[in-house]
Amino acid sequence: MNRLTTSILALALTAMGASAALGQDAEDQPKPARQSWSFSGLFGTYDQAQLQRGFQVYKEVCSNCHRLSIPFRTLADPNGPAYSEAQVKALAASYQIVNDEPNDKGEIFKRAGTPADIFPPPDAYPNSQAAAAAFGKAPPDMWLLAKARKYERGFPWFVFDALPFDQYQEMGADYIYAILNGYTKSGDAQWNAYYPGHRIAMPQPIVDGAVAYTDGTPAKLDNYARDVAAFLSWASEPTLDTRKKIGFRVMIFLFALAILLYLTKKRIWSKLH
Ligand code: HEC
Repeated sequence: MNRLTTSILALALTAMGASAALGQDAEDQPKPARQSWSFSGLFGTYDQAQLQRGFQVYKEVCSNCHRLSIPFRTLADPNGPAYSEAQVKALAASYQIVNDEPNDKGEIFKRAGTPADIFPPPDAYPNSQAAAAAFGKAPPDMWLLAKARKYERGFPWFVFDALPFDQYQEMGADYIYAILNGYTKSGDAQWNAYYPGHRIAMPQPIVDGAVAYTDGTPAKLDNYARDVAAFLSWASEPTLDTRKKIGFRVMIFLFALAILLYLTKKRIWSKLH
C-alpha cells in the first residue's frame, strides 16, 4: 500500500467512525418530527379555534409555572385568537397587577388588570429565582419560546428550509409538541425523549383529560400539545399573516420585474445586432 491509499483508508475509517457516532446520537436524541400546522407554508394562517384552545391550555396548566410576557389586548388580534374586546377586558380584570407607581402614602399596591397590562408572573413564582429554587431551573418565559427553540434538521432538509418556497419555520412548534409528548419512560416523570440530555427540570405537566375543551375536541394530550404549540407560535409571531402577505406581494413584484428586465434586454440587443 502506498502512502496515498493508506491515508485515504484512514480518512474513510474516521468518517465511518464519526457517522456511527452521529447515528448513535440521533438514535439517542431523536429530532422532533415535523407536524402539519395550519400556519406553515406560503399561505398559512392561524386557526382561531385552535389558538383559543391553546390559550385555555396555557391558562389552566402552563401558566402555573411559565410566564407569558404579552399584553392581554393582543388576544383580541383578528388574525390571532380573536377574542372580543369584552372578553379581553374581563380576562384582564380577573388578574391582579402590581401598580408601577406607589399610591399617595408611598405604598405599592395591586389593582385589577386592564387590556394594556402584560400578563403577570405566576402567583407561586413571582420571579425567576423563586421558580429556579423550586425546580432547579427556571421555566422560560413563553413569549419567545416557539421562536427560540430551533434545531438543525440536518442534511438535506436545511437546504430546503432556506428556500423561499418551502421556508420551514415551525420547528419551535414541532419542538414544543414533541416535548409534551416526550415523557415516554414510565415511572420517570423527568425523563424526556426530546429534551437535550433527557433530564428535564419540568415534571410532566399535562396528560389526557387535564383540560376540558368546550368545542368538542377530544381531551387528549395529543390535542393539548398541538393546540398549545400553535398558540405559543402565534404569541411569538403575531404578525405572521401580514408578513406572509407582504412576502407574497414582494415575490410577485420581483417576478414581474424580472420579465420586464428580460424584455428590455431583448429589445436593446435586437437593435445592436
Ligand atoms: C410545574 C411547573 C411547570 C408547568 C405546569 C409547566 N412547565 Fe414547562 N417548564 C418548567 C420548568 C421548570 C422548565 C425548565 C426545564 C429545563 O430546562 O430543564 C420548563 C421547560 C419547558 C420547555 C422546554 C424549554 C426549553 O428550554 O427547551 C417547554 C417546551 C415547556 N416547558 C412547555 C410547557 C408547556 C407547553 C406547559 C403547559 C402545558 C408547561 N411547560 C407547563 C415548569 C413547568
